[in-house]
Amino acid sequence: MSTRRIRLGVNVDHVATVRNARGGRHPDPLRAALLAAEAGADGITAHLREDRRHIVDSDIERLVKDVKLPLNFEMAATDEMVGIALRLRPHAACIVPERREERTTEGGLDVAGQHNHLAPRVQRLRDAGIRVSLFIEPDRRQLETAVALGAPVVELHTGRYCELEGEARAAELERLRKAAADCEALGLECHMGHGLAYDTVEAVAAIPQVMELNIGHFLVGEAIFIGWKEALLEMRRRMDKARGI
Ligand code: PXP
Repeated sequence: MSTRRIRLGVNVDHVATVRNARGGRHPDPLRAALLAAEAGADGITAHLREDRRHIVDSDIERLVKDVKLPLNFEMAATDEMVGIALRLRPHAACIVPERREERTTEGGLDVAGQHNHLAPRVQRLRDAGIRVSLFIEPDRRQLETAVALGAPVVELHTGRYCELEGEARAAELERLRKAAADCEALGLECHMGHGLAYDTVEAVAAIPQVMELNIGHFLVGEAIFIGWKEALLEMRRRMDKARGI
């Protein structure tokens, strides 16, 4: 299940964060998505949080309508979000844990602990033809539950790997490598994301089972200094280099 070229999903949430700081229309996450497509992104990712702190409902509607690339809709496993996904039919839905008080998605979804809550919601999304992925920690038990839930894809949380340093980071990278190999053995498509930057992307992009990386916050920050398209192109270049392209 490995591929030479890895897909880059560009997360536009924090374009909306900047916009919302002033409450107007600028900068527009749809424009960022359209430019990302021109710069070679393979997909657009957006998280409609329960509190609408960055992306709002009309953003998702415009992204679905106007972006040609596949949309990966990040959502909590609530009936409200399942309803929105069923109405808008994004290409993919990535189920993430969500707590109001957190600044970002701080850990993976405990699919093993929430099997009964997740099962009917995953099923409804799958029945609608939406490709379901589960955002989880690189942990064998979580992977096995993802299989039991019928999710075809998992996204492994790279946040801890990115935050740690030295030997601790190397150990976390090893966990990610092992989980990626487990994905292949279990028949799961392996994606990764969260917190990735230029200095952390190459090691995960080099893991052969990884098919897609979803990256946002760093790209939006880097765009301030070198421009949005340039930041994406540089990330793309590093991902390709890691794959020997
Ligand atoms: N993947 C998932 C499932 C996420 O929740 C996020 C953050 O919204 C990302 C990827 C992107 O993380 P970052 O913005 O730190 O690159």
